[in-house]
Amino acid sequence: MAASVHHPNITILHLLAVVLSIFSSRLHASEPYLTLDYYASTCPSVVEIVRKEMECAVLSDPRNAAFILRLHFHDCFVQGCDGSVLLDDTIDLKGEKTAAANKNSLEGFRLIDRIKNKLESECPGIVSCADILTIAARDAVILVGGPFWDVPLGRKDSRTAGYELASVNMPTADEGVLSIISKFLYQGLTVTDMVALSGAHTIGMARCENFRGRIYGDFAFTSGKTPSSETYLSNLKSTCPAFGSGNNISAMDYVTPNLFDNSFYQILVKGEGLLNSDQEVYSSVFGIQTKELVNRYAQDSLAFFRQFSDSMVKMGNIMNADSFFNGEVRKNCRFVNT
Ligand code: HEM
Repeated sequence: MAASVHHPNITILHLLAVVLSIFSSRLHASEPYLTLDYYASTCPSVVEIVRKEMECAVLSDPRNAAFILRLHFHDCFVQGCDGSVLLDDTIDLKGEKTAAANKNSLEGFRLIDRIKNKLESECPGIVSCADILTIAARDAVILVGGPFWDVPLGRKDSRTAGYELASVNMPTADEGVLSIISKFLYQGLTVTDMVALSGAHTIGMARCENFRGRIYGDFAFTSGKTPSSETYLSNLKSTCPAFGSGNNISAMDYVTPNLFDNSFYQILVKGEGLLNSDQEVYSSVFGIQTKELVNRYAQDSLAFFRQFSDSMVKMGNIMNADSFFNGEVRKNCRFVNT
């Protein structure tokens, strides 16, 4: 029965996304603006320099991998992958860092600064911050056990940021699956991309304020109240009481929090997802296709790795025509060049 509800909704959303993308000025993934050998003659050591810094950072704290992966996602969903998320507030510019989806939540900026400094001393003025973030996100995934993919390069950094757009474009923890799908379609990404990219939650932590609704809401229902899920839920409640302690954190993948694997999907199949938005992908009556994908990735980590790699390249290729044609290579990732 639910299928008849599901498909028309997706079709309408899809049409909406196509119409929106016709009117928007984004360049799409398939267009060859980026190339694998973009820095081959101007900064041949770029990939090695980023990898070394990422190795050091992730070795000292695996959470750095999660910070950088998320930062790249939040960059790409707001005006395309153009380093806009890295900009600080100034008198002339309101950055994205204080937007609701990012405030007190995004980290990793200092690590990007460190990589940028290294690159500026090796090949000054050559490598964009947007490219640094894209390579660093790929390395982050490998360093915690995930798949490798080649990163197309040649992005430009924006001279603007999208404070308001950050609130409109970024999905939130309490959002329903159809609304989240529409935000991915708008970016030129599919339902499959959405489910595979959500697998990023196999690493990293969420703050209590983002999962309180879930653990005092339908967690007990979706998890079927098994003894182990009840223990997990009571631990979550002690980390995240009904009131206050909004910044206390818990891993989204409690099985292997620092390992990039498919256990995140296995957790969803058990009904124990930490965020409402994640569990919705499996449990929503509107999520027939998404549920099938979660089941597939829960059983087949290779299928997940393959799709995650492809979807990361697609996400990394989201571009804004304005940044591309009027962009620059920032000297400092936090500020537009003067
Ligand atoms: C599908 C829609 C998504 C929603 C609703 C969502 C929402 C969230 C929320 C609420 C958090 C916790 C933030 C906090 O409490 O401070 C989080 C963390 C995270 N997200 Fe997502 N996310 C989504 C997709 C993605 C994607 C596509 C990626 C990357 C490809 C990603 C990577 C991460 C990572 C790595 C963390 C952990 C960060 C840390 O440890 O600080 N997320 N996400």
